[in-house]
Amino acid sequence: MAGTDDAAPLLPGQINLAGSGSGHGGSAAGRGAGELAAPIAEPEERELEAALRPKNLDDFVGQERVRKQLSLVLAASKIRGRSADHVLMSGPPGLGKTTLAMIVAAEMNAPLRISSGPAIQHAGDLAAILSSLTEGEVLFLDEIHRMSRPAEEMLYMAMEDFRVDIIVGKGAGATAIPLELPSFTLVGATTRAGLLPGPLRDRFGFTGHLEFYSVGELELVLRRSAGMLDLKLTSAGFSEIAGRSRGTPRIANRLLRRVRDWALVHGVETIDARTASAALDMYEVDVRGLDRLDRSVLEALVNKFNGGPVGLSTLAIAVGEETETVETVAEPFLVREGLLGRTPRGRIALPAAWEHLGLKMPGNAVAAAMLPFDDELDP
Ligand SMILES: Nc1ncnc2c1ncn2[C@@H]1O[C@H](COP(=O)(O)OP(=O)(O)OP(=O)(O)O)[C@@H](O)[C@H]1O
Ligand SMILES: [Mg+2]
Repeated sequence: MAGTDDAAPLLPGQINLAGSGSGHGGSAAGRGAGELAAPIAEPEERELEAALRPKNLDDFVGQERVRKQLSLVLAASKIRGRSADHVLMSGPPGLGKTTLAMIVAAEMNAPLRISSGPAIQHAGDLAAILSSLTEGEVLFLDEIHRMSRPAEEMLYMAMEDFRVDIIVGKGAGATAIPLELPSFTLVGATTRAGLLPGPLRDRFGFTGHLEFYSVGELELVLRRSAGMLDLKLTSAGFSEIAGRSRGTPRIANRLLRRVRDWALVHGVETIDARTASAALDMYEVDVRGLDRLDRSVLEALVNKFNGGPVGLSTLAIAVGEETETVETVAEPFLVREGLLGRTPRGRIALPAAWEHLGLKMPGNAVAAAMLPFDDELDP
């Protein structure tokens, strides 16, 4: 469909999403992007992803609740013959926010304009985009939490009244020239909903919170992708890959591509669980989806510190990484999986971590694991 492709022509102030993969903030998160199990995509990968993106709601797997709610919002706006309410998509990287934004435009049969928070540093950048929208157009603002303050304030008015005030001149002589806008639908995406100011959040008619996918849902994502890539897998092959994908479709598709390479080189035609597992073992993504860094954090914790508690910076030195890398790249998944805990006295390996490494948890480590948890960073 015209205009819904990542490589759509750009306006001033726009960025090309296909070429802007890095923008999720910290440098440590950027470092994680090259790793096989990292949730963030490199720019080249974004192009591959565009080919696998579901184009309509029926093809979008999982996220039952968000899908039903969104489909209702879109159906109602079609009946009313108006552009849909503004929509906010929030959730961790790789779960389908951009995909859903494109689906909104496709389902509404409307053109899509793409830009992002970091590309809009001045109110003028936003004014240029808004003033060139056509009636009913869908404007997708990725990483909307990273927009500048003045632009954000301009957006409030645009969202609510479809109008902006363009300020001409400075100081006492400044005048505001009102500019009427066509009605449009804003689709915002953010990995950090908590950073959005209340007034902005309140102006969205619908907010979809994307959750991590179940293994069964990831199998469906993989089946769809395998069909598109012309790959043959057994059911067990699909579940082997899905189980290692950390609840994230982006990672599932990436692992599928690596398994495909392995099968190609080894002359395997139908990918079964053994092939998938041999390939992913080679790439050092284990049965729970832990990669090399995740495992070395757990191994250091268990082998060098008897399961902890140990301070974050000591742990980072023990694995030869920056503190920030351990904290932002490895820890979130280890904590989510119940493998690592944060206590007031430091990080500890939880029973599941010992079990995962095939080790027996000693009695004194059990005692440390019983300490109350605390979200505060350790000293
Ligand atoms: N529900 C789904 N069904 C099928 N494929 C999906 C689904 N969700 C995501 N994908 C696939 O996963 C990849 C990443 O999705 P997407 O780019 O929408 O993630 P995102 O939430 O925008 O991530 P980011 O925060 O990094 O921008 C895409 O290739 C898309 O095809
Ligand atoms: Mg995205």
